[in-house]
Amino acid sequence: MNTKIISNAKNDDNFRAEMLFAANVIKSGGLVVFPTETVYGLGADATNDSAVGLVYEAKGRPSDNPLIIHVARPQDVEPYAYTDTTYYRLAEKFMPGPLTVILRSKDAVPSKTRGGLDTVAVRCPSNDIARELISLSGVPIAAPSANLSGTPSPTSFSHVVKDMNGRVDVIIDGGECDFGLESTIVKIEDDTTLTLLRPGKITVDDLLSVVDAVKVADSVTDKLKDGELVLSPGMKYKHYAPRASLVLLDGTVEEMIRYILSKGTDTTAIISYSENISQLQKYLPGVRAYDFGGQNDREAHARRLFSILRETDNENYSVIYAPLPETEGIGLALYNRMIRAAAHKIIRLKDGI
Ligand code: TXA
Ligand code: MG
Repeated sequence: MNTKIISNAKNDDNFRAEMLFAANVIKSGGLVVFPTETVYGLGADATNDSAVGLVYEAKGRPSDNPLIIHVARPQDVEPYAYTDTTYYRLAEKFMPGPLTVILRSKDAVPSKTRGGLDTVAVRCPSNDIARELISLSGVPIAAPSANLSGTPSPTSFSHVVKDMNGRVDVIIDGGECDFGLESTIVKIEDDTTLTLLRPGKITVDDLLSVVDAVKVADSVTDKLKDGELVLSPGMKYKHYAPRASLVLLDGTVEEMIRYILSKGTDTTAIISYSENISQLQKYLPGVRAYDFGGQNDREAHARRLFSILRETDNENYSVIYAPLPETEGIGLALYNRMIRAAAHKIIRLKDGI
């Protein structure tokens, strides 16, 4: 398939015409990769069964893993899902923005879009290009992250070109994504309670400004036991894994250096807070250090994580070490993505292991 690239770099009139072209591709059952404030999405008309089938195919995604439908305004979900006051309270506070809400689906959403579930995931992105594309298309856009299944979600134009060129009709260049990790996903339990299925930029504390209680699903922080039921089907699949084995280290930089030296430093890389890089280079000269941003700059970690994981795939490392993040605030989203990328390999250096 020949993929058309649309970019804002040239001139605005041309870009507008190209956006109309992209919207027509959606309307006629094709695939368009577009930027959002979280990660790039691989979009198709959510109401078109065969277009949605193409999404699963292009991504190599198992068809029991449902898609999020993206709307231009919170109220645009009315034909597709049963809303309630909690939905609109969340919408008022966080939409448009990086929040996805699971609602009971109406029949207008094909079963394929929701992976056979009776619920549907709904999100109203804030990115201007995403909103324009949805509005011009006139339909909700079903979109998973625009990566090949199993690889880190794409946060820049070069990532989507690598994964999706030749597999989709259009890729819209929106530069780097603002946040860099996928949206927060919640399920409404009742008027006062939410269950957090996937942490993101909208934190537990943010959600507590709207409801009384937020239950964090076990799968956010824990390894699934064999045969355990998952609330969010995507949680059971391998995710974000780089080719090398990623290991999370819980300890000081000195403890990390001692541990890495004891393991040998051949074909080793480390993802490091900026403050520690010169010390690492001094004691571990053969180890390539990737700059994760300042230790307290969690926004930088979120923005860089998937990009760094992709960069490490260009080299032949056997092991990559990274610091275990704290779980407060957006740290919980980082923790959730990193334990998955590491297949739960965490070494507690403080325990003297
Ligand atoms: O930020 C995001 O949410 C990005 C951008 C493109 O919007 N999208 C995204 O989609 O991350 P995806 O498909 O990569 O992840 C959606 C997750 C999956 O884990 C899926 O299992 C879950 O949402 N999900 C979708 N529908 C669901 C439902 N009805 N009930 C529970 N989980 C659902
Ligand atoms: Mg994904």
